[in-house]
Amino acid sequence: MQHRPRETERSCRMLLGDVFPNFEVDSTFGRMKVHDFLGDSWGVLFSHPGDFTPVCTTELGRAAQLSPEFIRRDVKLMALSVDGVEEHQRWSQDIVAYNNTEAGSQLPFPIIADVRRELVQSLGMLDPDEKDPGGMPLSARCVFVIGPDKKLKLSILYPASTGRNFDEILRVIDSLQLTAHNRVATPVDWRPGNCVMVPPSIPETEAAELFPAGVYTKHLPSGKRYLRYTPQPNSDPPV
Ligand code: BEZ
Repeated sequence: MQHRPRETERSCRMLLGDVFPNFEVDSTFGRMKVHDFLGDSWGVLFSHPGDFTPVCTTELGRAAQLSPEFIRRDVKLMALSVDGVEEHQRWSQDIVAYNNTEAGSQLPFPIIADVRRELVQSLGMLDPDEKDPGGMPLSARCVFVIGPDKKLKLSILYPASTGRNFDEILRVIDSLQLTAHNRVATPVDWRPGNCVMVPPSIPETEAAELFPAGVYTKHLPSGKRYLRYTPQPNSDPPV
């Protein structure tokens, strides 16, 4: 039987390392171009299926609570759904109330309106299983992390039924920012301050020079010396 591409498969997907498109969009912060909004900062664009829905309200509430943590890492947040700016504005007040923040406060990040589904279609963010009352597909829960060079560093895609964990998004940003400036990798469940891994591409003699704090090699039944730890280096960019 011939394979028929689904709506989401026909769209142009972003690959790691691709330059993120400089979309011009309407948002709760006004009309803006994504690259101009980001400037030299890191960015997170995260989509949600729709305004005035329970899981999305908890997600944007949590993102707002964690805003100081994103700012501390020089990361600018942008939310997005296929609803319009006016709905975003009205829904924002529900999110503010959900967070028990002072009524009338602004969310600390813009919500992008994509009523014509141009962004969600072109970025492969549509969830074919979730439809609005008119039968149009809704956006899935996509996360794009964009580097200061505007290139895509990470993408994750959740279905509408599963809310994301924004502490995990902060954790992966810590790993991305550390590994952007250091030839290391972070192991499972890594947290800032934990030891990191020396990648297999670095020979032992070079590793000893690169990591003066020491390299610990775990002995394994295979006898292969690939599981190498070193204390976490400084994550600041070189000056
Ligand atoms: C929600 O945000 O609660 C939701 C939205 C679409 C489908 C399922 C859940």
